[in-house]
Amino acid sequence: MSSIDETVLGFYHLPMNTVVKESETARARVLEGARVAGEIKREVAEVVERLRRDRAVTPCLVVVRVGDDPASAVYVRNKVRMCEELGIRSEHHALPADTDTEQVLRLIASFNAREDVDGILVQLPLPRAVDERRVVEAIDPSKDVDGFHPVNIGLLVLRRPAMVPCTPLGILELLTREGVEISGRRVCVVGRSQIVGRPVAELLLQRDATVTICHSRTQDLPSATREADILIAAVGRAAFIRKEHVKPGAVVIDVGINRVTDEAQALDFFGESAEKRLKTIRERGYTLVGDVHPAEVAKVAGWLTPVPGGVGPLTVVMLMQNTVTAALRRRGL
Ligand code: GUN
Repeated sequence: MSSIDETVLGFYHLPMNTVVKESETARARVLEGARVAGEIKREVAEVVERLRRDRAVTPCLVVVRVGDDPASAVYVRNKVRMCEELGIRSEHHALPADTDTEQVLRLIASFNAREDVDGILVQLPLPRAVDERRVVEAIDPSKDVDGFHPVNIGLLVLRRPAMVPCTPLGILELLTREGVEISGRRVCVVGRSQIVGRPVAELLLQRDATVTICHSRTQDLPSATREADILIAAVGRAAFIRKEHVKPGAVVIDVGINRVTDEAQALDFFGESAEKRLKTIRERGYTLVGDVHPAEVAKVAGWLTPVPGGVGPLTVVMLMQNTVTAALRRRGL
């Protein structure tokens, strides 16, 4: 095994005994999003409890789901469950797939008008017949806990207090709390979505990183991603980021959540830990893989977020934090 190269990993405030070169035995350390999410969850629960005790306020999140996308149903269930765990009141409005834009807009207008509602989340994607843009823009920006409204995007870019999208906020919390220095480091974000790629690039730029955003038209992607001390994969393609994309010792954040149903593919993706995944496929019909090829990248990266249990739990807990933030701001607290 090769020992750590301090010039490569010198920016971590983390123990310096990580192997940085690819080898049969090297393994990236796990950046445990789930553990950090648990930490933030406890902090949010404390604020919720103080609000209830001192101000008689219980934050309230309304979640709207249209149609029967199975993945959306799972995500919404997780959000509602975490509200319950934290003492946040929640309402789940599940609308049939043939709901039209006007019906969704009327519902949102009613939530905007309700004093007791602090956060409104419309689970995306919406059925094709529903105008996503009109729906997102109908949400009162002060209740936009997703941070998708143009007013909030504008405020974010202007560096003024905004509701910030949950996944980018979660990534920033993970890096900060795990002691990964951001200032002056090279970050590469692969993916330019409005939900993850662009806002996370903006947040990291605000923390003085040198940020590159790559996308489907980027030429020679590996030479761009290999420059990165922190590589963020948010492309929505299973195991897309391979070892040739990763600088030895880099921090790799995997935002993807993709279903794998094929056992041969699972064997390739998960290497030594494939057995457990094959069992999951046989029991549940699928297992999850991120946008990063886990077996390959673990041999090169210094740190890697797992899927599941990495960025996903952080996204949900940041939604809770945004709901509490909205409840506080709306009351001038
Ligand atoms: N669909 C996938 N991710 C998200 C999210 O963060 N918010 C909403 N509203 N829908 C999503």
